[in-house]
Order: sequence, then structure tokens, then C-alpha cells
Amino acid sequence: MKRLMLVAASVAMLAGMAGVAQAGDVVAGQAKYATCVGCHGAAGQGQAIFPKVAGKDTEYLVGVLGQYRAGEQVGPNAAMMWPHAMNLSDEDIADVAAYINSLE
Ligand code: HEC
Repeated sequence: MKRLMLVAASVAMLAGMAGVAQAGDVVAGQAKYATCVGCHGAAGQGQAIFPKVAGKDTEYLVGVLGQYRAGEQVGPNAAMMWPHAMNLSDEDIADVAAYINSLE
């Protein structure tokens, strides 16, 4: 619980900086992570070319998902992420980042 509150607090801080209205909701994020499982794994552990995402910094996750959403070439396989990130709202990104951060 302490950890969840910490996550919520850090997302709230980030939300202030990035102008995102909502703080990440881990429970909502879990539902939104359903489309990501096929590549990143149920525990966010990754496999083969799909990077591990579990436990990464919420700030980092929000930032990188924003980059994919904008169609930026983050890594060599960024194009695989673009269609998935493009469907995400700011709230979705905050939620899914909070959830992924809570894994591990
Ligand atoms: C079709 C497979 C696929 C799906 C589905 C997918 N991803 Fe990815 N994801 C990738 C690949 C491949 C990369 C590495 C891209 C690159 O080279 O920049 C990646 C990278 C990432 C990264 C950056 C990891 C890092 O360490 O920098 C995050 C975060 C991420 N994905 C989250 C998600 C989320 C959240 C979803 C669901 C909304 C999702 N992914 C759906 C394949 C996928």
C-alpha cells in the first residue's frame, strides 16, 4: 500500500510537470495493459526482442510511451510500438505506467 501511494504521488508530481490531468491508477492500468501482454508478458518480463517493462520508473515509462505515441524512433523496433501507443490517452499512459511500475 505504501508503495502504491508512492507511485500515485510520483505520478501526480509528473502529471503536474507534464500538464497531465490525472494521476496513474494501477487498477485501471492493469485493464489497459491487456493489449500489451502478448509482447511484454503478463508480468512485464519481456521476451526476445520485446523489452522487459516491469518495475521501470513511472516517469521513464510515461516519457517513452509519449515518444512512441508521437511516432518517434526510440529504439530499432519502435514501429512495433507506435500502433499500440497511438491509442493511448494521457490518462491511459499514466495508468498503464503506474501498473507496469508496480510489477515485479
Ligand atoms: C507487437 C508487440 C508489442 C505490443 C503489443 C506492445 N509492445 Fe511495447 N514494445 C515492443 C517493442 C518491440 C519495443 C521496443 C521498441 C524499440 O525498439 O524502441 C517495445 C517497447 C516498449 C517500452 C519501452 C521499454 C524500454 O525499456 O524502453 C514500453 C514502456 C512499452 N513497450 C510498453 C508497452 C505498452 C504499455 C503496451 C500496451 C499498450 C505495449 N508496449 C504493447 C513491442 C510491443
